[in-house]
Amino acid sequence: MASRIGILTGGGDCPGLNAVIRAVTRRTLDRGAEVVGVREGWRGLVDARLTPLDYRAISGILPRGGTILGTSRTNPYKIDGGVERVLETFRNEGLDALVAIGGEDTLGVAASLYAEHDLPVVGVPKTIDNDLSATDYTFGFDTAVWIATEAIDRLHTTAESHNRVMVVEVMGRHTGWIAVMSGIAGGADMILIPEQPVTVEQACAELRRRHDRGKDFSIVVVSEGYELTYESGERRAVAQDVETDQFGHVRLGGVGHALAQDIEERTGYETRVTVLGHIQRGGSPTPRDRVLATRYGIKAADLVADGSFGRMAALHGDDIVDVALEEATRELKKVPGHWYEVARAFFG
Ligand code: F6P
Repeated sequence: MASRIGILTGGGDCPGLNAVIRAVTRRTLDRGAEVVGVREGWRGLVDARLTPLDYRAISGILPRGGTILGTSRTNPYKIDGGVERVLETFRNEGLDALVAIGGEDTLGVAASLYAEHDLPVVGVPKTIDNDLSATDYTFGFDTAVWIATEAIDRLHTTAESHNRVMVVEVMGRHTGWIAVMSGIAGGADMILIPEQPVTVEQACAELRRRHDRGKDFSIVVVSEGYELTYESGERRAVAQDVETDQFGHVRLGGVGHALAQDIEERTGYETRVTVLGHIQRGGSPTPRDRVLATRYGIKAADLVADGSFGRMAALHGDDIVDVALEEATRELKKVPGHWYEVARAFFG
């Protein structure tokens, strides 16, 4: 049985990371094994920055947002000698196993290190985007949806008072999970997501239809990854003018402003924008995320104890199961059409 286990948190932080760290550590210490925290994701293994985790270190962290270990978007495959340094640190620190908590990027690195170098690693699916395949839900998503829904509720009252269109831009990268769920929960009048090529003209037509019914305010939720799509066939992605990260991701953000301008010009309705941004990632996890993260952490510790490496804890229905890491990172989990149909029933 593994006697010294490392834990790392990589990629964008999200509520529930500390709950996983707590569960993995507690379960492992109770078995008599040691736990070591790796600082700032894969960077901590590249640069050999680790810190011991004991009962005291994990006390009181369950409700805390962020990650006590820090995180980064470091990709060892993009650093000269990075993979060798990861393997060297792993050996030098006397680690027998690693629990990697992350999204498609962090777990993609874990899957490659397992496949190419037999690194004994187990994954835990984290991301507010909920875009990992092979699991029904990632932890962090429920909190992000809760925050976005609360924002939509608040925007409703001010939209109504001023007869305005309120555009709310939410995160989610190239999938529209946060937009669809918070939009349904918050009663959005239009939701635009990357998976559905709804045009700006169609969106404006729905808003006009609503106004014609006597509702002279509207809430439009747009996912940051939605490409402005027009009847002419033109499609325009909106991203920030900065370098891509080590995983090749552009930095999204800004589509809300472009869309609001379009809506105001085409409909003549006064329009305002709210970009929720990192507020969706900050703060305390919801009870649902705390429970899911805890269950994932226990499962990950048990997979390590069983020597079941190259696996990821996953949620199927109500059950925590394990799946191949490779399967979890093979493709993005997009919002299925039937979810969008539920949202569409309330457009206009
Ligand atoms: O993947 C989580 C996420 O919050 C995305 O929704 C968003 O596009 C991205 O991370 C933002 O990244 P950063 O924190 O590097 O700005």
